[in-house]
This record gives sequence, C-alpha cells and structure tokens, in this order.
Amino acid sequence: MPKLTIEGHGTADVQTGTRLVLAIRDSGVEIGHRCGGFGKCTTCRVECLDGEPNRMTEAEREKLDAAELEGIRLACQLTVDRDMSVRALMTVGDQPWEDPGPQPAETIEPEPVWLDR
Ligand code: FES
Repeated sequence: MPKLTIEGHGTADVQTGTRLVLAIRDSGVEIGHRCGGFGKCTTCRVECLDGEPNRMTEAEREKLDAAELEGIRLACQLTVDRDMSVRALMTVGDQPWEDPGPQPAETIEPEPVWLDR
C-alpha cells in the first residue's frame, strides 16, 4: 500500500488508486475542491515534494496551461499509486471558504485521457 505524506500532517497508508484529493481529505486536511473535482477550479492544487506521477490527465494539462500555473499538480486529477509527499496549497484554514467544496466522486472526472507530463 502506498504511503502518502502531507507536509505538516504526517504519513498514512493509502489504498492504491485512491484519488489524491480524497486521500488528503481523509487524512484530515481540508484541501479545496471547489469545483467538485472536475479539474476546473485549481483549489485542490498541491506541490509534489516527492513521488510526482509521470502522467497527467488532459483536463489537468489544459487547466494548468490556461491558468499559467507551473510547479503544481491538481489533486483531483491524480491517484495515489506510489509513495508520495505533497504540500496542500489551498485549504479551508487559509482561504475565505466555509467548506472545501462539493464532494468529489471516487474516480477521476471527467473521464481521464492520460498524457505524459
Ligand atoms: S480542480 Fe477543482 S477540485 Fe481539482
């Protein structure tokens, strides 16, 4: 089972294939997912400190390019399939939100089209 380390919050075992945004949330970090996990809002952004996946969804690539964001990944567009260490960059605790956003589905949405990073 892969280990997920969240900076400032410790390390947990995560079922292989768990959506990263849900794994972070389940670890007790109220990471943003203001679009409900559809790759549209970028509030689930993380910095990958170690174990960054080599592939990315087309939706993530398009959103990061459109928003001119570099050096981050969208946790709703990733699954935990290896040991990873991340920093959650937008959380309820540091944003003017009352909640993190609508519940993301268990699987990546939209249906992933995988690209090399
Ligand atoms: S981009 Fe909105 S939750 Fe990931």
